[in-house]
Amino acid sequence: MLKLTAVEAGYDLLQVLWGVDLHVEEGEFVAILGPNGAGKTTTLRSIAGFVPPIRGSITFRGTELRASLPHQASRLGIGYVSESLNLFPSMSVYENLLVGAYTIHDGAKVKATMDTVFELFPRLLERRDQLAGTLSGGERKMLAIGRGLMSSPSLLLVDEPSLGLAPMLTLDTYEALKTLRSRGMTILLVEQNVNTTLRMVDRAYVLEQGRVVLEGTGEQLLGNTHVQEAYLGI
Ligand SMILES: Nc1ncnc2c1ncn2[C@@H]1O[C@H](COP(=O)(O)OP(=O)(O)OP(=O)(O)O)[C@@H](O)[C@H]1O
Ligand SMILES: [Mg+2]
Repeated sequence: MLKLTAVEAGYDLLQVLWGVDLHVEEGEFVAILGPNGAGKTTTLRSIAGFVPPIRGSITFRGTELRASLPHQASRLGIGYVSESLNLFPSMSVYENLLVGAYTIHDGAKVKATMDTVFELFPRLLERRDQLAGTLSGGERKMLAIGRGLMSSPSLLLVDEPSLGLAPMLTLDTYEALKTLRSRGMTILLVEQNVNTTLRMVDRAYVLEQGRVVLEGTGEQLLGNTHVQEAYLGI
């Protein structure tokens, strides 16, 4: 479904990705793990069309995304939930969700998708008319994921949904991702929480200094000496 081949990318004077090869198949739940500054967010931003690759290619269902703009990636079915969330603080939960559905012109479909989001995150339904700026950190995360779902993407990119969340809320967020996955959503997740993530996903990549240094199933990586020493403290 998604294929990155020898992707190099970065910002003005700083190259961050040095030849990233990565693929995600339809229905797969895949994670990118790695230390701070490794280039995980940059990888997601490249796929979502915010950081165009300098070299290499990104294809989505056979279409080259190389020169793609964010709205084109979104129209092709790529949903992106960024680290910084980018919610509209002075708009309500309901209005923020509507913004996420801007590419969808079928009102019945928008309503059905919103019902699904409220079913996944009942707290959002309770706070439907509350301003996004007054939500707690965890509720804002849920709203950002919910908004990402409103365009009915076929691939969801999620950057560190657990960042700054209490353990209970982290589990709620993971449960929501697992539910989405069981309904056929393809997910590419960036996480710092290595142990839990490897138990949840089908496959994962370990990114270090802009290069993929390891790739495997969750089980394979849990048993890998480098992963155990560098990320699990075993
Ligand atoms: N807009 C930007 N302009 C310049 N440099 C940037 C920009 N965004 C990120 N960088 C740099 O690119 C490198 C990779 O950053 P990136 O955000 O991709 O890392 P990350 O793996 O997501 O890290 P973290 O786990 O801390 O979120 C870092 O050295 C960072 O300082
Ligand atoms: Mg990041």
